[in-house]
Amino acid sequence: HIVSSTLSLSVAGPYLKNEQAEHGPEEKEIPVIVQAICTAAKNISDTLRRGDFTGAGRNTCNSSGEIQHALDIYANEQFIASLTNCGECAALVSEECDDILVLNPGGQYLAAIDPLDGSSNTGVNMSLGSIFSIYRNNIGETPVPGSLSDSTGQLAAGYILYGPATVLVYTTGDGLNGFTLDPASGNFLLSHPGIHIPASGYSYSVNEGNYSLFPSGVKDFIRHCRPGKAACSARYSSRYTGTMVADIHRILFHGGIFIYPALLPAFPEGKLRLLYECRPMAFIIEQAGGKASDGYRRLMDIEACRLHQRTPVFIGSPILVSLAESLIAGAH
Ligand code: AHG
Ligand code: MN
Ligand code: MN
Ligand code: MN
Repeated sequence: HIVSSTLSLSVAGPYLKNEQAEHGPEEKEIPVIVQAICTAAKNISDTLRRGDFTGAGRNTCNSSGEIQHALDIYANEQFIASLTNCGECAALVSEECDDILVLNPGGQYLAAIDPLDGSSNTGVNMSLGSIFSIYRNNIGETPVPGSLSDSTGQLAAGYILYGPATVLVYTTGDGLNGFTLDPASGNFLLSHPGIHIPASGYSYSVNEGNYSLFPSGVKDFIRHCRPGKAACSARYSSRYTGTMVADIHRILFHGGIFIYPALLPAFPEGKLRLLYECRPMAFIIEQAGGKASDGYRRLMDIEACRLHQRTPVFIGSPILVSLAESLIAGAH
């Protein structure tokens, strides 16, 4: 499999240390670039634990038109520094940088990063995340370097959830594993081997404040989830934190569906970005047996033409994503 031959998951090394690994499978070289991501994540986690950042940012906006909080900027700087120092990252696409950043021209990888996911939750002690996607660096430049335009070059993807515990969930295409940061040793220890999502579930995760802007098929799905008059109708719970990483992490273990649809007419592509939010999350969820779609087609088949391209996203338990797609298809 292209991914496992190029970027193998390792449970050894200073960051992804599996206590069983010392007596378990042979230790494999952990990709230097993943160690760099873990280094940045550890620094961000330590800073969050101290509650250092509640301040405003520099009154600047990113390419998506979002205010950059101080923590957005700090997290971005952490990833840029560690990915530069590792020497393996040729270039970086970041939510917080307008253009692609060239780091180490000879590097064999490209990275796409959401340095801080859930920024609206900064300063109120809610869960936050970071999302990453790693590609082999092919030759040739287009507005989006050739390596990033389609997902076949995506070698690895993962997220870090800064919650009560700091957890790394990561795949190289050979299944999905979770590692919990041990604050005492500074190691990410294998804690959730072989994550598999429930085929269905009874929670839906969407910002219902936008209901009136949803396409009609999405409204049909939401009405299906809401408690119906008939006592026999399935009862779903609504769970939405404002941090995609936290909502999807819950869905990976409990089942359910996360939706950020088009908001008509202003945002026909929705809000979330393809390269550093939706495509890595799609890779992750598929590796857990889940499904990720834009409502019509497999999300991993969407071509990236722009660095900050948005896409509607329906992701989670395969039965629920398929149900949403069928209601969207049947909507008039
Ligand atoms: P980011 O903080 O990286 O910009 O991402 C925020 C995203 C995602 O984490 C979350 O699910 C969604 O925006 C929340 O958007 P709304 O506040 O519009 O619901
Ligand atoms: Mn943002
Ligand atoms: Mn985000
Ligand atoms: Mn972000």
